[in-house]
Amino acid sequence: MEAEFRKLGDYIRLPMLHLAIFVSGTGSNFRAIHNAVLNGTLDARLALVVASKPGIKALDYAAECGIPAYVHSKSASVAPLLETLEGHSVNFIALAGYMRLIEPEIIQRYRNNILNIHPALLPSFGGKGMYGKHVHEAVLASGAKLSGATVHVVNEEFDRGPIVLQRAVPVMDGDTEDTLAARVLTVEHALYPEALQLFAEERVDITGNRTRITNYTPT
Ligand code: GRF
Repeated sequence: MEAEFRKLGDYIRLPMLHLAIFVSGTGSNFRAIHNAVLNGTLDARLALVVASKPGIKALDYAAECGIPAYVHSKSASVAPLLETLEGHSVNFIALAGYMRLIEPEIIQRYRNNILNIHPALLPSFGGKGMYGKHVHEAVLASGAKLSGATVHVVNEEFDRGPIVLQRAVPVMDGDTEDTLAARVLTVEHALYPEALQLFAEERVDITGNRTRITNYTPT
């Protein structure tokens, strides 16, 4: 019997990520994360979708997939959101194009367990006002030859939390904000599930503003 238990133990996965995805728009990163769960490359359960407003595409997708959703609108207090997260056993949060500030209560409760994806290579082109097209506009105006995507841990400083993964894309002659955004977004869709899987496998160690990842070869 004991041997059987040990054998079973070999197969028991690490505690699963019970993910809440926070969205405000089309939710293409949300879909990429969901696809990674469906195809088995991300060990997570999509426990909840939190939207900053009703009527967005990401909510339609959540409904199609039968993923519970909660709208946390602008004036709403944080307590019911925290209760809803706990009610769905959420232990990890992925911000995916979420356009509201995360309340300090959420950051404290989920310290080091909240990720965000940013469509540029932080710490450049981040911070207040750097969202959507503004990011790509700033990259093009700077003359940078590389842009990319950054997945980082969310802390109290906007776009400043420890960087988990980054991947670069070239800035091409003749790029517009739209063509650059599309190139970056393709990379985001691969990078975000990869970063989440590193947390699912408990391979990310965070010290100060640095992360160290066990057995990781950057690509
Ligand atoms: C992405 O470019 C992401 O980096 C940024 O917001 C955008 C969200 O796009 N934070 P989507 O809603 O996931 O399509």
